[in-house]
Amino acid sequence: MTNPLVIAPSVLAADFSKLGQEVKDVSKAGADWIHLDVMDGHFVPNISFGPAVISSIRPHSDKIFDTHLMIEPCDPYLEAFAKAGSDYITVHAEATKHLHRSLQAIRGLGKKAGVSLNPSTPESTLEYVLDSLDMILIMTVNPGFGGQKFIEGMVEKTRRVKQMIGDRPIRIQIDGGITPETAPLVTNAGADTLVAGSAVFKGGSVDSYRANMDAIRKACA
Ligand code: DX5
Ligand code: ZN
Repeated sequence: MTNPLVIAPSVLAADFSKLGQEVKDVSKAGADWIHLDVMDGHFVPNISFGPAVISSIRPHSDKIFDTHLMIEPCDPYLEAFAKAGSDYITVHAEATKHLHRSLQAIRGLGKKAGVSLNPSTPESTLEYVLDSLDMILIMTVNPGFGGQKFIEGMVEKTRRVKQMIGDRPIRIQIDGGITPETAPLVTNAGADTLVAGSAVFKGGSVDSYRANMDAIRKACA
């Protein structure tokens, strides 16, 4: 790991009836970023929330808003997610026909551009867009739901991505099944940004969110 470790709690595991408060609490507890999982019931078999919800929680935290779009198509909605207050916008390589164009559009909106890869998608698909992206998100579960089991084979993929990016300033983010047990496997392989939903939003209080994130940090130290 070269960049400082970033922990990005996924609000998918928060209590949606008080989302603003949850975002405030997890920020106070020491979250580095807030991870926002947008699902359309088409690219993934689940539906979550859209730009209106993101803009309504935006005033509750000054942390980086990291929007993970699991929607197809994505291009028609990029501007709405930028306006809603996203700092990073990540699209799935499998959900856009013109990945280079989608990345240019995100950067054109003044945002950091990320690409996510499903577990079955090889990292070679990113070879020709490496200079157009700020973050690679390696899915360590099949996208759509929180609380799934970490897919071990993705540790090797993380290692390969790390090698592929060389000295480019690209973050490597891991999403799915991150716990104090799995986190060090991927940080040792080169990941610097960890999404965690169920492992962070356990306990339902600022103190437990802090303890949950500390446990992940400690495991990776
Ligand atoms: C899954 C989402 C994840 C999810 C992670 O499609 O992209 O961000 O919330 O949840 P956990 O950490 O519980 O696996
Ligand atoms: Zn996610």
